[in-house]
Amino acid sequence: MNAPTTDILKQHLIDPVICIRCNTCEETCPIGAITHDSRNYVVDPAICNGCNACIAPCPTGSIDNWRRVRRTEAYSLDAQLEWDELPEEQDVGDDQAAPVAGADFSPPPVDATRGSVVAPGSASRPAVNVYTLRQPATATVAGNFRVTEVGREYDTHHVVLDFGSVPFPVLEGQSIGIIPSGADARGRPHHARQYSVASPRDGERPRYNNLSLTVKRVTSDHDGQPVRGEASNYVCDLAKGDTVKVIGPFGSTFLMPDDPATHLLMVCTGTGSAPMRAMTERRRRLRKPGDGRLMLFFGARTQAELPYFGPLTQLPKDFIDINLAYSRTPGQPKKYVQDLMRERAADVAALLRDPLTHLYVCGLKGMEDGVMDALRYAADSHGLSWKELHPRLRAEGRLHLETY
Ligand code: A2P
Repeated sequence: MNAPTTDILKQHLIDPVICIRCNTCEETCPIGAITHDSRNYVVDPAICNGCNACIAPCPTGSIDNWRRVRRTEAYSLDAQLEWDELPEEQDVGDDQAAPVAGADFSPPPVDATRGSVVAPGSASRPAVNVYTLRQPATATVAGNFRVTEVGREYDTHHVVLDFGSVPFPVLEGQSIGIIPSGADARGRPHHARQYSVASPRDGERPRYNNLSLTVKRVTSDHDGQPVRGEASNYVCDLAKGDTVKVIGPFGSTFLMPDDPATHLLMVCTGTGSAPMRAMTERRRRLRKPGDGRLMLFFGARTQAELPYFGPLTQLPKDFIDINLAYSRTPGQPKKYVQDLMRERAADVAALLRDPLTHLYVCGLKGMEDGVMDALRYAADSHGLSWKELHPRLRAEGRLHLETY
């Protein structure tokens, strides 16, 4: 179909004030219209076709911004990358705006995302965006502990933040943003970075107004090049008593079901374990006979680099079925979470067969394909049809993916 012919474009833009740089939009966009630099996420007006696949998954709503502009004056990527805030709407006359710049206007791709864009049916209603960059909450660091073995280059911390008398309601699976103190090389304030909450809704310590985060110190980029992660180093170096600016909470779909009869099948790597810890601890605190089952697949390089290894092994075997995949244990074959899921395919399939089962996948982007393939294998090799099951899980808010 040809685009409507008009000089006016309804240009899709991302609000840099609210955006928490979680990369969800860039991952979701089926045609690669969204990119980013170290500062902003931006939409290429020459590529975006207005399909809206990116709108629902965005945890903050920063993605849902539009400006009517003359087509010849569309904001370029270079201009958007420089913004600290969105420009005011311009008066461009009464022409009806075409929503996209490209020549083709395709309908929204139904299959654009693999996971649910709705919360589980029995999930509690989350609060979102209660605190913003303009009005952040202040928390005090109540503790900062290393949760991977000391002495390794791999450094992951468990940081407890206390909000005192300031209400900061979170649900398991939600995240918050931390604004590092100081300014970047150009003197502008740092952006907030998003971290999943690792504690249940009633606090790291029950009935305390606190929460915890699992933060890995970033010392290299995806290609292994040395780089100092501004926010992660800031958080890992926080001392007890320090104050921190916090925004959020974020996320309204990656939530756990409140129905205790439901089963949780959780798959994670590294700090992707944070929401799994929150959900597991919620279930553990409320545990009673007849509750649903918990099954966890957790991947790390070695046991020493697996966050919370000690506490995990303390959990009762009849409460949670734990499967740990190590990829770099000397003298042992490389194992990924998806390898263990295949080994346990019969048990994974038994859970998939049950309409009370909810799935959560969190961690490295790279594992997503492997995990989806392992789910397909488990289903198809045990009398289920993944082709039929997958859309049902997604539509019913029972398949949640958060990878980065
Ligand atoms: P690897 O040894 O290949 O890096 P990290 O420590 O970087 O956070 O990674 C956590 C775990 O996830 C590591 O064991 C890592 O293995 C593993 N991993 C890396 N790529 C994938 C993938 N494509 N699928 C599953 N696991 C992966």
